[in-house]
Amino acid sequence: MRIHIPVIVAALALFTACDENLSKIAGPSPNLEPTFASIQRDIFETADSAGRVSCIGCHTSTGRNPSGGLNLNHDVAYEQLINLASRGKPSAVRVVPGDPDASYLVQKLEGAAGIAGRRMPFGGAPFLTDGQILILRRWIAIGAPRN
Ligand code: HEC
Repeated sequence: MRIHIPVIVAALALFTACDENLSKIAGPSPNLEPTFASIQRDIFETADSAGRVSCIGCHTSTGRNPSGGLNLNHDVAYEQLINLASRGKPSAVRVVPGDPDASYLVQKLEGAAGIAGRRMPFGGAPFLTDGQILILRRWIAIGAPRN
């Protein structure tokens, strides 16, 4: 893919200008921002809108083997995601910096065609909202920085 820098800069400026509206689209996680720290805190470690266990209820090495071989504990989550092959679908990569569509994490959360296993979270709906996924996508699109 050829990256057109001015278009990206313009899109980012627009997105930043709308920052005060992010809380509206983020739904159940009003503080969610397109940073890794926020995604860790507001998605991976926060009970969902139905009050069920968060992602790290299953994706943890604390007292168990992490589900799907994916450990989202605070200190290792970033390394577990970036440029690392999926366990369930080894041809897929969990997070491809700059390419949300190719990122298996996004595919699993959207229930995309071709995923192995279930759409996440494992227990079924409610899934992440479109707004939450949009913010996650944005973080990946800008290069999935460790911020
Ligand atoms: C109740 C337990 C449970 C919860 C909660 C859960 N998962 Fe999972 N997850 C699993 C299991 C089991 C698998 C492996 C089987 C499958 O893929 O369906 C898995 C697989 C995955 C995979 C694929 C890993 C790979 O390498 O193939 C991703 C990505 C993922 N989960 C992300 C998440 C995210 C993000 C959340 C929170 C929004 C979440 N999961 C919540 C149990 C859970």
